[in-house]
Amino acid sequence: MQNKPKRMGGRAGVGNRVREMLPELQIVRPNDMHVHFREGAMLQSVVPYTARQFCRAVVMPNTKIPITTTDIAKKYKQEIMNCVPEGATFDPLMMIYLNSSSNPDDIAQGFNDGVIFGAKLYPANATTNSQYGVSDISEISDVLSVMEQIGMPLSIHGESVDKNVDIFDREAVFIEKTLTKILNDYPNLRVTMEHITTVQAVEFLKSGGDKLGATITPQHLMYNRNDMLVGGIRPHYYCSPILKREEHRLALRELATSGFKRVFLGTDSAPHSIDNKECACGCAGVFSSINALEFYAQVFDEENALDKLEDFTTNNSNSFHMLKPSDEFVQLIKSGNIVPKTISVPGKGQLLPLCSGEIIPWRADYELNQKCVQSIG
Ligand code: NCD
Ligand code: ZN
Repeated sequence: MQNKPKRMGGRAGVGNRVREMLPELQIVRPNDMHVHFREGAMLQSVVPYTARQFCRAVVMPNTKIPITTTDIAKKYKQEIMNCVPEGATFDPLMMIYLNSSSNPDDIAQGFNDGVIFGAKLYPANATTNSQYGVSDISEISDVLSVMEQIGMPLSIHGESVDKNVDIFDREAVFIEKTLTKILNDYPNLRVTMEHITTVQAVEFLKSGGDKLGATITPQHLMYNRNDMLVGGIRPHYYCSPILKREEHRLALRELATSGFKRVFLGTDSAPHSIDNKECACGCAGVFSSINALEFYAQVFDEENALDKLEDFTTNNSNSFHMLKPSDEFVQLIKSGNIVPKTISVPGKGQLLPLCSGEIIPWRADYELNQKCVQSIG
């Protein structure tokens, strides 16, 4: 765990002519513990945004052909590395997509060889490309036992897929019916509750032991379901798990900014083209990776908790997963910043980022990583 004094201060404004000091802070290069890169042209377009901000990212395995074996993970990792801008130090942490055919020996070998970081449990049909996921936890009991023995972490998309469960209750029901049982059956398994969205998840996390962690997305800290549904339906806020009531958003903000150690940054940046979002049956996913760190800084600033930002973005996930802290820093400056309206992906249309076209307060300074900036343009 880092125990350095927080580096907060100010700097002279634009062009060094304005004498007013702009608030700024420096954090150890953070970890994005949950991101979707996709494949092909989309992968090439989005990887540089994550690589310029984060020293590592947990790459979700729900590609069109899911990442189900060590061999596929190794190839996918190489494809990702080919998209990392020269000069950037970035480590993709590869995940295996669990299903009824998962091979415990292959997974253990991949983990011990350092190819695979962890495994992801998608309840079948819970979200994008999850049709190959798990229908009953007993299907993967041998894999979970091996993971528990070798210390390999499990990430869980924690939503019930029972068709009788209301979409706004899916997380709470999963916790009660499935997560509790997994934790009882595998008490030494390191488990991350991905993209938590409810008071129930916050309470469950807090009551859990030191092997239970959780990630939170920027959109679940910034918006509630009214933002998505009042005055017209806004498909770019539609994601899985769906945005919840305000009381849930407030509980997430309280937890994230409180200094609690087992909660950490996971953007769940999930790019889908505008065509696939704005249609009769739009895809779930918010594309946030371009300005991810700046969104979190805004939330922590609003909560007067900037001194806790580095724990959430960096130190907590480093401790939970025993990761080596980066020796690089990212500078955040409160100088105003314009989010691009759209991003073009060759042959795939356009992406619409979170806060598209808006002015946001914080700007991450990548001066030290000039090559990344140039390659993004
Ligand atoms: C993700 C995606 O599109 O891959 N979508 C989302 O809304 N979060 C899948 C996921 O993490 O559920
Ligand atoms: Zn995700």
